[in-house]
Amino acid sequence: MTLAADLPIASTESASSTLAQPDHPYTEAHIGLTELMPRYRVDLRPDGADVFYDANPVPDWRDLKWEKIGRPYRVERWSEEKKSWEKEHDQSLPVKTAWQMFNRSFQSLFDTAPSEARKDALSKIAKNASHLDMHEAWEALEEAAQWMFWNKAHRVQDAIWDPRGKRALFQGLDVKKPEILFLGAADGYEAMQLMAMYPGGHAVLVDYDEYCATNRFGEFPEAYPFLGVDASSGQPKVWYRDQMNIDYEVIDIKDLKYGREFDIVVSIGLIEHFPDEYKPLAFEMHRKFLKPGGYVIITTPRVQLQSKLFYTLFADIMNFAYRELMDVTHMGLYTYENGFDILRHGRIKAHNGLIAKMR
Ligand SMILES: C[S@@+](CC[C@H](N)C(=O)[O-])C[C@H]1O[C@@H](n2cnc3c(N)ncnc32)[C@H](O)[C@@H]1O
Repeated sequence: MTLAADLPIASTESASSTLAQPDHPYTEAHIGLTELMPRYRVDLRPDGADVFYDANPVPDWRDLKWEKIGRPYRVERWSEEKKSWEKEHDQSLPVKTAWQMFNRSFQSLFDTAPSEARKDALSKIAKNASHLDMHEAWEALEEAAQWMFWNKAHRVQDAIWDPRGKRALFQGLDVKKPEILFLGAADGYEAMQLMAMYPGGHAVLVDYDEYCATNRFGEFPEAYPFLGVDASSGQPKVWYRDQMNIDYEVIDIKDLKYGREFDIVVSIGLIEHFPDEYKPLAFEMHRKFLKPGGYVIITTPRVQLQSKLFYTLFADIMNFAYRELMDVTHMGLYTYENGFDILRHGRIKAHNGLIAKMR
């Protein structure tokens, strides 16, 4: 399904003259192009210096100690929905219910054109202020600030999907037609980027929230282009999700029945939701399904001022479950201590990223 909202606002002349099909509007002629759509950025720029920061800052993980780096930062400003559920039920919000709330709430950001939403919020402020309804005016002000922030972070800076950073992190893996397992897949974005870069394989996306299969991934824009390669020629190629071999399993990761059969096991924003006593279990989930010699790819949100501001301003939308913000050294040390050798690590826009193999 292509939403009208996903069609380009303004294409370059060469771009519009080579439009392929409405559902696949970009072709190889568009490589090098970036443009803003109402809800996201299209970015087909192949490389650049600004995509993978501080690559490999830790020369030897054996020398790094927790006393030196401290522990990750915990986000503890909770959403009102979580707080009122807990008050009503007189118990902590169950983790799976927390994720169900999170997924609907987070996806609503991706489903909205933020510039339009910000304009609507600004006109609400003016209307409410003129009626001296200061509570409503204040809420509309907060909403306008959220849409401004989201517009910049997701659409202008492309810090959430971050295709260039992810491509830089994922490049150079020694795999052909890989079997990919994505743990806690949500919208499945990174599996699609991997499949474009390593075509001809198969991905299993796993998430226990059915809404992720039906909506977050199920309604991911078909017209969104992923820059990858053509397996036969080795030349750059633009891929779309409906050209990829993907299965979505709605199941708890702990109940997966696979053997050691995946070339790549990936998780994006999962490890930081496991408190330290459960981290070994989280890493075991990555190891359990990996072929000997297979790659683990992990990213987690960075501890930086912009992320702290984001999880404060978006507390009601984002904060339903335990969450840490880490530096790449934290993420790497957890990975190293849990039995992996780290091949590459660094910072992309909003996340830390690493590639590892079982020791
Ligand atoms: C923080 S999200 C990942 C971030 C993601 N990139 C996004 O866009 O939201 C984590 C995902 O893992 C899923 N998840 C958490 N624990 C799980 C488990 N035990 N089994 C399956 N899925 C799980 C949640 O439902 C959620 O969709």
